[in-house]
Amino acid sequence: MAEKIIIDTDPGQDDAFAILLALASPEIELLGITTVAGNVPLSRTTENARKICELAGRTDVAIHPGCDRPMRGALVTAEHVHGKTGLDGYDLPDPAMPVSDLHGVDFLIETLRREPAGTVTLCPLGPLTNIGTALSRAPDIAGRIRRIVLMGGGFFEGGNITPAAEFNIFVDPDAATLVLGAGIEVTILPLDVTHKVLTSPERIAAIRGIGTRLGQAAAGWLEFFERFDVEKYGSQGGPLHDPNVIAWLLKPNLYDGRLCNVEIEADSELTRGMTVVDWWGVTPREKNATWIRDVDDAGFFALLTERLARLG
Ligand code: BDR
Ligand code: CA
Repeated sequence: MAEKIIIDTDPGQDDAFAILLALASPEIELLGITTVAGNVPLSRTTENARKICELAGRTDVAIHPGCDRPMRGALVTAEHVHGKTGLDGYDLPDPAMPVSDLHGVDFLIETLRREPAGTVTLCPLGPLTNIGTALSRAPDIAGRIRRIVLMGGGFFEGGNITPAAEFNIFVDPDAATLVLGAGIEVTILPLDVTHKVLTSPERIAAIRGIGTRLGQAAAGWLEFFERFDVEKYGSQGGPLHDPNVIAWLLKPNLYDGRLCNVEIEADSELTRGMTVVDWWGVTPREKNATWIRDVDDAGFFALLTERLARLG
């Protein structure tokens, strides 16, 4: 039976790859998308989610706008990475598909209370504000979530928005603290693994070679997205973050990690948003998350390219 998931997202070119990979995969049943402010403000992440679904011909997907700012403090965005629209690199028409009237947080709570307990997986690809807000408003849903598989954090690689913090956790460390403290099965795809999933001219050419408009769009996004990372990290290609969440669901054997304790620094000015990972088990703190560190990157790109080609 297909795994029921909700994607919680702030598209973002790499979020787009995660959404498309899920839509292309029969092993997954996408119950809906909740959008959140992150890479760009909420109005843009919601518009981008609609554009991505329309590109895939999936105007039936329910898109629920969620929180427009973190649980505490001001929103930090990342136009310097993703461009002004959040989806720079390939122009898509203004979307026509509807947006749900139901707030993303209400959708999360209602869906988790309606579906049989233990059957719905949450896939956060942005700041964890919607999930944190849902958990604080309706603590009963924690026991009904099958698992959470998220992109966020970095330990061995350090941070990408500050020396200590990865963007998604930095934007809303309070929400991340709630997610990790709720007793839910959590798997984390941090920078430690996504920095091993690098694009290359050959990998981009293979995606463009799909020969569809979707393939053109995807290649355009990768080229735009990687220009920033090549400049920043000096690597051959840019890392592709968010689709690792969906790829891990589809083929966990491509990945390797360890169950350990992960805590969030929420208050320090210097290290706010840092994910403190007890990889070596040097504390008695409870193991609360599986931290993924290694990946078969060639296997990942083969999977991604094959699935994108299915979308036509
Ligand atoms: C994460 O932050 C965003 O810029 C990306 O979409 C990804 O979710 C990487 O740090
Ligand atoms: Ca994202």
